[in-house]
Amino acid sequence: MPKLVIVNRAGEETTVDAAPGLSVMEAIRDNGFDELLALCGGCCSCATCHVHVAPEWTDKLPPMSEDENDLLDSSDHRDETSRLSCQVQLTDALDGLKVTIAAED
Ligand code: FES
Repeated sequence: MPKLVIVNRAGEETTVDAAPGLSVMEAIRDNGFDELLALCGGCCSCATCHVHVAPEWTDKLPPMSEDENDLLDSSDHRDETSRLSCQVQLTDALDGLKVTIAAED
């Protein structure tokens, strides 16, 4: 089962087990991180599931869709490590992925 390393807004790091096939957003929420609002439930229409991916992982993720890219543009905190966590599916290849919950817009 892939491990996901989650850093909350206070900078605290937690490692959780996440079932392959879940999105990173689902894995974060299932583990009780209520600071990730994910208001649209994963439909790629709210941008409240914004995370920063650790730089060593950014190239290993599937490319983002135009919709994800457009939505991320609505965030004041976007940078080159930004992704919408509902758009990234966990796989065994992503074992050890580390993400930081982005600041609230
Ligand atoms: S949960 Fe709304 S865009 Fe990801």
